[in-house]
Amino acid sequence: MCNRILYLLGFIFMAVLLSCNNKLGNQHDLLSPDGKIQLKFELLQQKAHYSISFEQQELIKPSLLGFHFIDRAPLFDSLQVDSVSQSTTDEVWRPVWGTDASISNAYNQLIVYLSETDSLHRKFELVFRTFNDGIAFRYRLPAQDNLDQFRITSELTEFNFAQDFTAWWIKGEFGTYERLYKQTPLSQICSANTPITMKSENGIHISIHEAALTDYAGMTLKKKTVQKHSFHCELAPWPDGVKVIGQTPFVTPWRTFQIADEPGKLIESHLIENLNEPCKIEDTSWIKSMKYVGIWWGMHIGTNTWYIGEKHGATTAQALKYMNFAAANGIKGILIEGWNLGWDTWGTEENIQNFTTPYPDFDLPRLAAYAQKKELYLIGHHESGGNVPEYEKQLDNALDLYQSLGIHAVKTGYAGRMSPEGQYRHGQFMVRHYREVVKKMAEHQIMVDAHEPIKPTGIRRTWPNMMTREGVRGMEYNAWSDGNPPEHTTILPFTRMLAGPLDYTPGIFNIKFDPSGEHRVYTTLAKQLALYVVLYSPLQMAADLIENYEGQPAFKFIRDVPVNWDETKVLNAQIGDFVTIARRQGDSWYMGSITDEQPREMQIALDFLGKDRTYEVQMYRDAAETGYETNPTAIKIEQFKVDSEDTLKVRLIKSGGFAAIFNPQSGETK
Ligand code: NOJ
Ligand code: CA
Repeated sequence: MCNRILYLLGFIFMAVLLSCNNKLGNQHDLLSPDGKIQLKFELLQQKAHYSISFEQQELIKPSLLGFHFIDRAPLFDSLQVDSVSQSTTDEVWRPVWGTDASISNAYNQLIVYLSETDSLHRKFELVFRTFNDGIAFRYRLPAQDNLDQFRITSELTEFNFAQDFTAWWIKGEFGTYERLYKQTPLSQICSANTPITMKSENGIHISIHEAALTDYAGMTLKKKTVQKHSFHCELAPWPDGVKVIGQTPFVTPWRTFQIADEPGKLIESHLIENLNEPCKIEDTSWIKSMKYVGIWWGMHIGTNTWYIGEKHGATTAQALKYMNFAAANGIKGILIEGWNLGWDTWGTEENIQNFTTPYPDFDLPRLAAYAQKKELYLIGHHESGGNVPEYEKQLDNALDLYQSLGIHAVKTGYAGRMSPEGQYRHGQFMVRHYREVVKKMAEHQIMVDAHEPIKPTGIRRTWPNMMTREGVRGMEYNAWSDGNPPEHTTILPFTRMLAGPLDYTPGIFNIKFDPSGEHRVYTTLAKQLALYVVLYSPLQMAADLIENYEGQPAFKFIRDVPVNWDETKVLNAQIGDFVTIARRQGDSWYMGSITDEQPREMQIALDFLGKDRTYEVQMYRDAAETGYETNPTAIKIEQFKVDSEDTLKVRLIKSGGFAAIFNPQSGETK
């Protein structure tokens, strides 16, 4: 009897297993909640592949997944699907700050559990998520006897694009993202950093990046030999060539694909943040988005120096001037660079900064107390010069000092030759370092503005004290290089900015600042204002010398524009040509519109405004007499009334723009 029951149970068990296996098969599809995006997983010759389509149009052809290790057999072949699981999530969360007050995180998830059929029987899992704005996947390596500690020499993830899409990209580098973007077919790219954004012939836009890069190497795309538009993942290495060291259980960052039928929807997407863990900081009351001025541009254009001497920028007197200006103009933050001993070693072999000792002409305690009295935020500065061991050595004391002085924000920097020798800014060593700095700063209630950073991958959701960062060819390039051409800021919102906020530092009013004529800012003044809406940063600088703002009516826009938003809408866009973004705070809307080297007339339907209300518009635009070459600072400021049925018509000159505020009038109709 007993045996018969066991036999029967065994039979049922086998039957369930077989039916599972039959259902399992070697192919699994996952649709986005709206059914438009399709992810396909399949085993082809026992190797794992994914492919992606949008409304039946193939975007990525079957592309390989797996790893090579230095110390063990590769993991990508002789695979079988052990099981799969599917689930659905639909939740809403509210960021501490951001471009929208609430964020929908709705996706379908497929986990494919794989194992090797050969002697090692190692296991790994692929987690796929499909959203309405794209897809993502990551690898999970569970704890197991045959895969414990490991050293990855390459992640095999391929990107076999279905067509020779037009792409906006910067080359794949492991040390910088500070480049001008190029627009070419994929076939002309050898390597690219992410985000890389592309467009199909019929206008489907795809941007490839990564999310939750916490303990791994930064990813670039590298052209596969021979194939025209196929790439594979290329990770930034450790000095010995190994890419990632780890131990199971282990998860990789997400490989992300933002997908949209209009370029503006890429900007509205929250896919990258959604793929990060919820906020880990319990009390976030000390985290504040804000505008800031700073002792900064003067060093870049050579009127001041970071190091002490006749032209020293960070003097007590100048800091007080900047603080008084900020207080008088409702600007909360003041960045002061060049305040500490050691700047004379910057760029030399020695390269050692002292992060706890101010120069004798900079009275740090007095200034910190003055800031508190005036309810201002001093933004501290740590320029490591790339000397990471030295910075790590001093970090605790440096942060204790700032915390004791009530300083809640620090700009970090890694400009210079990297030490330890052979480490790259985008490699695992530095990814770990940057993350550790963010955590330590959080422990000290300090916000971070990182320069020469690792690219953003959504960490701001988990650590919202990680406010903004460079990782972009910013304003400073206009000070001392051949500058940023007119189209640069019409590409950034669709590439670098998809990764996260950027500390571009807009707001140069003295456009033709260089008497020799060698350097200038390659925009009109109105376009500088528009950048406050177009380029999102929770710490947003008014970058010019404060004397250039005195008596300037256009400065009112910088005073008035918020840095934290309830809603964001892209009203029109063509990558590399123009973009118009509207952002709402409370009941008021703010609009920024910019063009490349082509003059244009923008016609913008105002149907996003509240119905049955009149809005007063404060408009800052290129004036009739504004000339890009001859008169870039001329600006027309005007007021008029509109409602949601109106269409706004504004003329933008070469590299021009406009910025506008729409304030609802209570109970008034036009
Ligand atoms: C480069 C940064 O991008 C810039 O903002 C800073 O002023 C210098 N390094 C000095 O730290
Ligand atoms: Ca263009």
